[in-house]
Amino acid sequence: MAKTKSVYFCQNCGAQSPKWIGRCPSCGEWNTYTEEIVSKAAHPQAPAFVSKSSGGRVAKPQLLSAVTVGEEVRLPVYDKELSRVLGGGLVPGSLILFGGEPGIGKSTLMLQLAANLKGMRVLYVSGEESEQQIRMRAERIGINNPDCYILTETSTQHIFQQIEQIEPQLLIIDSIQTLHTAHIESSPGSVSQVRECAAELLRYAKESDVPVFLIGHITKEGSLAGPKVLEHMVDTVLQFEGDRNHVYRLLRTVKNRFGSTSELGIYEMQGSGLREVNNPSEILITAREEPVSGVTIAVLLEGMRPMLIETQALVSTAAYGTPQRSSTGFDLRRLAMLLAVLEKRCGFRLGQKDVFLNIAGGLKVEDPGIDLAVVCAVLSSNADIPIAPGVCFASEVGLSGEIRPVNRIEQRIAEAEKLGFKEIYISKYHKGLKAGDYGIKLHQVGKIEEVFGGLFG
Ligand code: TYD
Ligand code: MG
Repeated sequence: MAKTKSVYFCQNCGAQSPKWIGRCPSCGEWNTYTEEIVSKAAHPQAPAFVSKSSGGRVAKPQLLSAVTVGEEVRLPVYDKELSRVLGGGLVPGSLILFGGEPGIGKSTLMLQLAANLKGMRVLYVSGEESEQQIRMRAERIGINNPDCYILTETSTQHIFQQIEQIEPQLLIIDSIQTLHTAHIESSPGSVSQVRECAAELLRYAKESDVPVFLIGHITKEGSLAGPKVLEHMVDTVLQFEGDRNHVYRLLRTVKNRFGSTSELGIYEMQGSGLREVNNPSEILITAREEPVSGVTIAVLLEGMRPMLIETQALVSTAAYGTPQRSSTGFDLRRLAMLLAVLEKRCGFRLGQKDVFLNIAGGLKVEDPGIDLAVVCAVLSSNADIPIAPGVCFASEVGLSGEIRPVNRIEQRIAEAEKLGFKEIYISKYHKGLKAGDYGIKLHQVGKIEEVFGGLFG
């Protein structure tokens, strides 16, 4: 009989200890250690496919300059948002962790991918739903891929047996927390099970060059349940976010070995699955019949993609002693700084006013190019004068009230022009911009006062 050993694992970060401890020395969480049985003899047995291909091959060091690189292969993904977030398609043999809160739409997005990737044999393994449930969902989404297989199974050994038969070109696991391997005795979802199952799938992905998606649940605290450990094992970590009560979903990269982590994908949840939102400005700007004060449009960059977004401010006289400052989607300290600039450099008395700021669409904006739009929204609300429709802003504001340049300004101007805007306020310090090249009027300004002059006369 295999000798068994019990080890205590932190369910938060995966650290282990031979005895129970109250506070994890690695992540600092309290009361997260639980006992898990690890059977010692079983561990080194690799799944059958590993011994076949890697039999006895020992890697030798090579000179970096002598390593040959073939052309980078990417498997095309029909879904443009996902493809961009992944860095331009799927990399063969990559392991991708796809996290999100329950009910956000992870299974829907992955099933949609599986059912629509024409010309690829896809295996969708579900440990959470029955075949009938998946079929019903797939019918709502639409099935266009005749080579899409469904398997409801939770044992990795059985899954690998089926994989040998079907030889899929893409594997999707829904979810990693439901899998279990015979090599470990603890229950599914525990740290050691999750880690071992992911390690088996990692070996499979690397040996067979098949990309693998692992769906993972997120805990209430917002981290991927249990396996922080998973984050360093996988190549890419994607996170699906959004409010369940709203229809928009954001797909972010937390880590990506094959692309940028600043890309953002946007989807809309509809009755027939998730729709890609290729032009985010359409949802981030509200069409209004008449202009209202306190609303401005900023031209931002999310990753490589320019988008226009609505910034709303409300300034009112403080009802109680201390004025309130509140902001959603924008850094509160940065707002305080911008208000201080307005007070000191331009003489606006905002010290006794409540200031509320809101970025449309539930986005969190970090691009400093939104500064000028924020400042103008605050002033427009303060003076109760609406800003003319067709005006937008793309500039950072410095501590002395100077209008500073932002990156990729040509792209931003082009986007604003494409969406029918008539005027854009930018920094005069951008080199080589010719006003004649654009169909949109460029206001190139150097100081914040010049902007007010232009806007409010
Ligand atoms: P699901 O993919 O099951 O979430 P997860 O796998 O992340 O737990 O998504 C479930 C939600 O999506 C559910 O509340 C219903 C909604 N939904 C739609 O609105 N339209 C659809 O076409 C589908 C398939 C689901
Ligand atoms: Mg699900």
